[in-house]
Amino acid sequence: MGDYIGVIESLHGRKIVLGVSGGVAAYKAAALTRELRRLGADVHVALTEAGSRFVSALTFHALSGNRVWTSFWDGGAENGIPHIALVRGADAVLVAPASAGIIARLANGLAGDLLSALCLARDCPLFIAPAMNRQMWENPATQRNVATLRGDGAILLGPDEGGQACGETGPGRMLEPEALCEALLAFFTPKRLAGRKVVMTAGPTFEAIDPVRGITNSSSGKMGYAIAAACVRSGAEVVLVSGPTVLPAPVGVRRVEAASALRMRDEVLAALPGADVFIAVAAVADYRPAETAWHKLKKSGAPMQLELVPNPDILAEVAARPDAPFCVGFAAESQDLDTYAEGKRRAKRLPMLVGNLLVDGLCGDDNTVVIYDDEGRHPLPRAPKTFIARQIVEHLACLLPAG
Ligand code: C5P
Repeated sequence: MGDYIGVIESLHGRKIVLGVSGGVAAYKAAALTRELRRLGADVHVALTEAGSRFVSALTFHALSGNRVWTSFWDGGAENGIPHIALVRGADAVLVAPASAGIIARLANGLAGDLLSALCLARDCPLFIAPAMNRQMWENPATQRNVATLRGDGAILLGPDEGGQACGETGPGRMLEPEALCEALLAFFTPKRLAGRKVVMTAGPTFEAIDPVRGITNSSSGKMGYAIAAACVRSGAEVVLVSGPTVLPAPVGVRRVEAASALRMRDEVLAALPGADVFIAVAAVADYRPAETAWHKLKKSGAPMQLELVPNPDILAEVAARPDAPFCVGFAAESQDLDTYAEGKRRAKRLPMLVGNLLVDGLCGDDNTVVIYDDEGRHPLPRAPKTFIARQIVEHLACLLPAG
């Protein structure tokens, strides 16, 4: 077993220099600072003069917990040279928003302001999140500069398309803070699942009684979606067969929607060829109505009988195949977790199962789980589902036979 316990948010302890240049999207850099810190990063903000016209240094100071740098001539740098002190020991520089102006300066190696100079002085990856009017973005000069930066190894994040602050619509919107954080997380996550294909299920299923009613399970899909995102970050190709949820598909995941257990089974089997891993997170309804009414059933006031038939067990079926991929099951229990969870693992012949006691409900953001495998039980401390997801993926990567 690898030392997966203690693997924490992959931005934990990372020094990120956040360059904020002049643009309306600077307001999103405030939320970005907060999110990066939440993910464990040590954020140091370098604000251009134009950037400080949009959001004050005080805001970034309060959100980052670190002093904010705006000029070469700010006193108090460790060695008296802010543009060197800021980038030494940095894991990444992220310029967000990156205006057309800063992109031009960076592409040409100009060093007339603190942010441009520290980008020149860095020895870590440079991420650039452009934000500007669509015409400025499409201008050949900007496109030339972007191509130059790419050629120099900078990683461009975005821009997005859509409505702009100037009232026009087109490419040039800065990516949302969550998407930028996701890109950094992906960059820093070891590619333990590179070249692997993962098929997964997540969310509840919905077994229709009539066109408007049905039987379902309580499940937000958050755990499964977090695992899908963690698998992508680890380099896997991911097909996520999802029951009904309100969650957006994680970046890089191929989501296939499947409301009922029967449909979920069909989609899983269709996606299975070439899969190295199958992770069944879905709360699949154990039963479905024997028949689905074409029209809405009318109430009569009399007691109603509903005949239910068992659904196929998708995980058990996949695990029993002679060419079964590495199968991971989940078990949510209301009591006696060890007995029931380990019992299910053995009954379904799974190399790994993740169990949790239903103390938090099924739809919250945090979870407390125990991983069961042939070596025994591995309890994980209570943590956000995104964090648990990373540990689960790390654990399965350790157990996965060499590809
Ligand atoms: O419902 P049960 O507790 O047996 O679920 C254990 C595991 O089996 C879960 O991983 C769940 O996704 C999977 N399962 C399935 N198809 C079912 C029932 C459960 O894939 N019909």
